[in-house]
Amino acid sequence: MGDSVQQIKDKLSIVDVVGRYVKLERAGVNFRARCPFHSERTPSFFISPDRGTYHCFGCSVGGDIFTFIEEIEGTDFKGALKMLAQQAGVELVPEKKEVRDERSRAYAIIEEATLFYQKGLTEKHPAYTYLTERGLSPATISSFRLGWAPKEWRALAGYLRARGYREEEMEQVGVVKSTERGVYDRFRERIIFPIADIAGRTVGFSGRIFSEDAKDAPKYINSPETPLFHKSYILYGYDRAKQAIRTNRCAVLVEGQMDLLMVHEVGWTNAVAVSGTALTEHHVLLLKRMSDNLVLALDADSAGFSAALKSARIALLGGMEVRVAALPSGSDPAEFIQKDGKEAWGKIMRESKRIISFLLDAHAAGSKSESHFHDLVRKDVLPFVAGIQSYTKRESAVHEVSGKTGWSEQAVYRELERLPQEDISMIAEAGETAPTEKKITGGYDARIRQLWGVILWQRAKENPDINVEELLGGLRSAIGSGAAELEQIPESEKESLLFAAETLYADAEHLNDDIQALARIVSLDSLKRRLADASARLRRAEASGDEKMRHVALEECQKLTGEIAHFDKMR
Ligand code: GTP
Ligand code: MN
Repeated sequence: MGDSVQQIKDKLSIVDVVGRYVKLERAGVNFRARCPFHSERTPSFFISPDRGTYHCFGCSVGGDIFTFIEEIEGTDFKGALKMLAQQAGVELVPEKKEVRDERSRAYAIIEEATLFYQKGLTEKHPAYTYLTERGLSPATISSFRLGWAPKEWRALAGYLRARGYREEEMEQVGVVKSTERGVYDRFRERIIFPIADIAGRTVGFSGRIFSEDAKDAPKYINSPETPLFHKSYILYGYDRAKQAIRTNRCAVLVEGQMDLLMVHEVGWTNAVAVSGTALTEHHVLLLKRMSDNLVLALDADSAGFSAALKSARIALLGGMEVRVAALPSGSDPAEFIQKDGKEAWGKIMRESKRIISFLLDAHAAGSKSESHFHDLVRKDVLPFVAGIQSYTKRESAVHEVSGKTGWSEQAVYRELERLPQEDISMIAEAGETAPTEKKITGGYDARIRQLWGVILWQRAKENPDINVEELLGGLRSAIGSGAAELEQIPESEKESLLFAAETLYADAEHLNDDIQALARIVSLDSLKRRLADASARLRRAEASGDEKMRHVALEECQKLTGEIAHFDKMR
């Protein structure tokens, strides 16, 4: 396997691998992009074609093509190896059958359960008929692996036991519940929607009621949180929608499983569903990996409206561009498509309005008087305007609010300033970390690290024009006892230092001069800090009358003052 890894690395450039997921731009010897793993406006994700590595200064992820694929595809090393081997055209030597570990057994149980449910949904089954009558084609039913959970207490449990799984394992993945008298199936007499992770593996289920005599039971029940299934991280349909989201430069968000299936049915394969929960910032990150644009197509009822508000807010704070589709009141995407068809859906999508316009129009139509409308705008619309991350887009939103309320733009800005403090802080928290440059050129510590990066970089490059050892020598004497610490930078941070150095200096015309200047500033900084420290000791010694300490401190002050003067002359 070690061989395959090297072969793959030889054949695939990290630029090609990463470039399939994010837009890269050149940055000197490296490439940079907006980080696919955290939300940011300015790119702080760097790729080195020479070293075959990437590093993000914003969220400090980093690694090689394998870790990148693991992270972005939500797979493990083996999975990444498979994908990259295929891309590289490298054949993998099959591994010996090992004892399956707990996690892969968990995936295996869920897969068995999916197959069990799928087998239960035969074409003759009334639930199958129901689904086709609602507009789903056999192709969609089978490709989304819909299933049926029978009206029995232990059908699945028995099936899994016969295949060698223990009850604790079944319970752990959430397909059974346990009592003192043993386990029973969580899903009974329900239509089953398997929920997949981003790599397409089933990790949980949602079951829709399909029974005449269970009027009080919830319409949908879902798997509980399990080691494989985390609701706030999973979007239903994302595994199949992700590529379409990228190519269409837009994602469509719907509320329910049936909505999602119907939207995919009519060819809008860039849709995902929240399955009844609120959109989370993790969901937003998943979507943003593929596109910054989001169309909300939530149910046109009051619950859907407030869900739209919440989701839009999270998406805006995540830096997404949000539009809202105006479905006829009382309907949801599934119903709408079944009744009005594919063309009408396309029209609804094209006519979706920017969130601000949507809210203004909805409130204008729903308010009792002008002052009621203005109150609604203050309460519901302005916090959104404040949440818009782009300055120019915020400006155009202010313009629109002003147009529709009759307030002057200055008045809108004043209203924005008067928003409750918590709104502002929420926005600030969701904002990204400071841009790279600021970090690097920051204070003394940051400059030292920058210099250390340069040294590592020049050493690795074996650049004959820059004498690294001389540079280090000068630095050691200026920094004094701190130099040892400087050289003990942990291995894990070196990559980040290297990238920072390359980014700042790779394009520099007079690299040598720039590096010398940096070394001088760092040295001078350090001497001044040491002088400040020595003078403090001197003052203390004078105050306490400690003659010996006074003498030592005085000498040190004189020596440092001399060195600083020497440096100043050199400039
Ligand atoms: P269909 O009749 O199957 O089309 O349902 P729907 O999608 O129109 O249902 P609704 O609009 O009422 O709810 C939207 C989504 O919320 C559903 O798809 C489910 O994901 C979720 N949901 C609805 N009812 C329940 C419930 O009782 N419990 C839970 N946990 N989720 C629900
Ligand atoms: Mn609905």
